[in-house]
Amino acid sequence: MKAIVQDRYGSPDVLQLREIDRPAVGDDGVLVRVHAASVHPDVWHVIRGMPYILRFMGAGLLKPTNPVPGTDMAGHVEAVGRNVTQFQPGDEVFGETVSGHQWKNGGAYAEYVSVPENALAAKPANVTFEQAAAVPTSGLIALQNLRGRVQPGQKVLINGAGGGLGVLAVQIVKSYGAEVTAVDSAGKQDMLRSIGADQVIDYTEEDFTQGDERYDLILDIPGNRSFSDLGRVLAPDGTYVLLGHDLFGAQGGRFIGSGIPRFIKLSVSSPFGKQQAAPRPTEDTTDPLVVLKELMETGDVTPVIDSTYPLSEAPEAIRYLVEGNAAGKVVITV
Ligand SMILES: NC(=O)c1ccc[n+]([C@@H]2O[C@H](COP(=O)([O-])OP(=O)(O)OC[C@H]3O[C@@H](n4cnc5c(N)ncnc54)[C@H](OP(=O)(O)O)[C@@H]3O)[C@@H](O)[C@H]2O)c1
Repeated sequence: MKAIVQDRYGSPDVLQLREIDRPAVGDDGVLVRVHAASVHPDVWHVIRGMPYILRFMGAGLLKPTNPVPGTDMAGHVEAVGRNVTQFQPGDEVFGETVSGHQWKNGGAYAEYVSVPENALAAKPANVTFEQAAAVPTSGLIALQNLRGRVQPGQKVLINGAGGGLGVLAVQIVKSYGAEVTAVDSAGKQDMLRSIGADQVIDYTEEDFTQGDERYDLILDIPGNRSFSDLGRVLAPDGTYVLLGHDLFGAQGGRFIGSGIPRFIKLSVSSPFGKQQAAPRPTEDTTDPLVVLKELMETGDVTPVIDSTYPLSEAPEAIRYLVEGNAAGKVVITV
């Protein structure tokens, strides 16, 4: 099969299109013929092998253990292991190819990938493979951080709303009946309004921490503001949720990433009352991938795709994401 392969860590230049063997499928696995895969910041981290800590977390010490990048994909089932009960050949599916964290290669940038059955859901019929591939990791992170935290009528600010995760978060919050203020750069404002943001703020023109509005929840994707600035615009019983994007190394953190120290600082010395540094357990135990499928089926969530690249141009797709101009998701078609 054709696949993008990396033999060593480095810039996207290390990625090569090659012919390799199809992955084997275990008894609990599903072999998926990939039609589309998407790009997110952690794919770039693993290609670079930085922050270095990821090499000790399953990515591979000196070179990637799995040479094929990518974790999010959509396609159809080619074959199933003998213990698989939910899927059969021909089914259209989407999901993540890795479980736990995404700081390791998942093999999605290939014609075929083997995925555990429980990491897949049926692809909604009303979205394309490209749209479905844009959702898994971003949608799961957004949902895990928002589920059970937002009430109808509340005011929610999303900082970094125009990227891969933010566009899903905006729509999930709107589906809960809350009011959304979306913060991102000028080129993403029209798109943010089109997906339902009630107010948009261009962070290059206006500092939302100096405004008069008070928010019940701030979902902070770039994590680039001080906690005391953010506390100024948080309602007295509001919640602050940090995701901790390191803006592709721009915030430092070669060894453990810039997010981890910030999470620790937030946990230990937070200046306001109800901030959360990690997803909290929710009483809703519905499989979050199934929740995302249903949100797409009802039209509450429509994945936003900025651009698509063929598999052979995966390095360009990753460079484009890192440049920061993507409004929504960058997708690779296979
Ligand atoms: N999305 C995923 O699937 C995924 C997976 C694992 C982890 N995560 C984590 O989730 C976070 C975000 O991921 P993402 O996919 O949404 O990243 P992304 O697509 O790079 O989006 C980040 C957004 O933040 C904006 N931004 C940059 N500087 C900003 C500033 N100073 N103020 C406000 N907005 C700013 C960017 O816009 P401009 O560049 O135009 O300024 C961009 O729209 C990261 O912590 C990442 O590690 C995401």
